[in-house]
Amino acid sequence: MSSVVIDSVARQFDNHRALNNVSITIEQGEFFSLLGPSGCGKTTLLNIIAGFLSPNQGRVSLGGRDVTAIPPYQRNIGMVFQNYALFPHLSVGDNVAFGLKVRKVSRHEQQQRVTEALRQVRLEGLAERMPHQLSGGQQQRVAIARALAIEPQVLLLDEPLSNLDARLRRLMQDELRELQQRIGITTILVTHDQEEALTLSDRIGILGQGELQQVGSPSALYRQPANRFVAEFVGQANLFHVSTHSDGYHARDHFTATNEKLILTAVQPVTAATLLIVRPERIQLLPGPSVQATSPNMAPAKVKEVSFAGATLRVVCQLPGGGEIRVHPAEAQFSQLPAAGDNCFLQWRAEDVIVLPARDHA
Ligand SMILES: Nc1ncnc2c1ncn2[C@@H]1O[C@H](COP(=O)(O)OP(=O)(O)OP(=O)(O)O)[C@@H](O)[C@H]1O
Ligand SMILES: [Mg+2]
Repeated sequence: MSSVVIDSVARQFDNHRALNNVSITIEQGEFFSLLGPSGCGKTTLLNIIAGFLSPNQGRVSLGGRDVTAIPPYQRNIGMVFQNYALFPHLSVGDNVAFGLKVRKVSRHEQQQRVTEALRQVRLEGLAERMPHQLSGGQQQRVAIARALAIEPQVLLLDEPLSNLDARLRRLMQDELRELQQRIGITTILVTHDQEEALTLSDRIGILGQGELQQVGSPSALYRQPANRFVAEFVGQANLFHVSTHSDGYHARDHFTATNEKLILTAVQPVTAATLLIVRPERIQLLPGPSVQATSPNMAPAKVKEVSFAGATLRVVCQLPGGGEIRVHPAEAQFSQLPAAGDNCFLQWRAEDVIVLPARDHA
């Protein structure tokens, strides 16, 4: 049975439409992320699932039960809020017991569940500590334990790791995924961090301006984005507008990009209104003298900027027509790193040219 069904949900604040006709079905045990830029409606949707906000239109079901008109405390949902404050004057144990006290769970059972929730987040033995005596990552885990203690059907996490530094954040991401798999709880994570969503999720829903843009597995979103918004939000994208057909080879899939006189070939069919995308990491950068491009999916270029990002280089290249193209080659492939001013040669495969439908041309 589906765990969470969001059916045609819309929410308006005064004149602002924060959510527009959003429908998502989340399966039992799934790790689902809502990813989108600031202000796109992620928290609003989470609050509607939890029952802290009502939709103006549409319905929410949990485990097959329509809960649209049911208050939050009767929904059996555990939530970690965007600014997950722990109660500073309560011990770790009392923080975790909070939802149980509200639900009038017996003292004995409270103790058992607090112990179990702290064990699940690997904080056993810290129940007596006060929040200020914990590290940021430990505080974060207490907030998750507090949500888990009520044994919810669904765990909702609103940017739970955004206050942590990069290293701790990665560590907590691994822990979160491990915890979720270990206890098998349906989880909805809100984040604006694409890497976090890609590494943690079974599926991701991309929200943009209150609309659900696409739902899919991390690799599906990356490999076949439904539109330009998704292509630019999940990974990076070099965009090519197709202006004129070239019928030199197979007219159906050879095209000239605006200004650049590049010929791109794609595996999928293309029309003159299509937008083409090549991911920076799918482009090969070869050293070489500037030569005129004669074949499809190749371009002579000049290195404009190089920055070092560990395993990959981030290179901006200038094309002969003045346009720029981003290339992220593996650092390991160069005995001598490319430098600004070098002539180079770019090359990619037709399989790596992503074709977006014409209607998303804008
Ligand atoms: N109570 C409210 N009253 C009026 N407008 C609101 C209210 N809550 C949210 N909004 C507006 O609705 C839109 C969506 O807000 P929401 O908090 O859902 O965004 P978000 O995706 O969670 O953003 P962030 O990543 O910054 O947390 C925003 O434009 C916001 O200003
Ligand atoms: Mg938010």
